[in-house]
Amino acid sequence: MEEVTYGGLTFEPYITREKIMEQVKRLAREIERDCEREGEQSPLFLCVLTGAFMFGTDLFRECNIHDAEIAFIRFKSYEGTSSSGVINEVMGLSEDVEGRYVIIVEDIVDTGVTADQLRAMLAKKNPKKVKMVSLLFKPESITVGERPEYVGFEIPSKFILGYGLDLDGKARNLNDIYVLKKD
Ligand code: IMP
Ligand code: MG
Repeated sequence: MEEVTYGGLTFEPYITREKIMEQVKRLAREIERDCEREGEQSPLFLCVLTGAFMFGTDLFRECNIHDAEIAFIRFKSYEGTSSSGVINEVMGLSEDVEGRYVIIVEDIVDTGVTADQLRAMLAKKNPKKVKMVSLLFKPESITVGERPEYVGFEIPSKFILGYGLDLDGKARNLNDIYVLKKD
């Protein structure tokens, strides 16, 4: 694996596709086991676009749960409409969450703001249960909420990309994860 360049920045190999798939498999086994233990036969995987699209599909097909379902949602950000600068709205969060066992699928939990908002929005729709699986988690960055129930990798607070994660929309198609190189 070689270094890659995006937006004038250099990134070096960090987590290989092989290591990612090891964690995908482990997480799938844990989710299967917990669903079985809790008597849940039809969990709804709620994949948060765009970042989690690769992880979400890999995880979903790895999970051996006959009646599992998947849905996709997307956060739409607006700038400059409030004092905080950003307001998020969820697109595609339909009503069928009511009474469901929901597993939010995220690419990464950084400050925890996105995860926290999403949980709050979901809670209003009366799901049976809400859990979160995140491929990546930056424990030193979290400011709100808690550690997701299922985490693939805990990483330091460095900027990464690839395997769905982007820099200004680019680099999502990399099969491995890369980290910003400091020089
Ligand atoms: P939050 O800070 O936990 O709300 O994360 C917000 C979003 O920032 C995540 O869903 C990612 O899309 C993005 N993000 C956070 N850290 C990184 C990173 O290291 N690389 C690329 N995107 C990131
Ligand atoms: Mg995301």
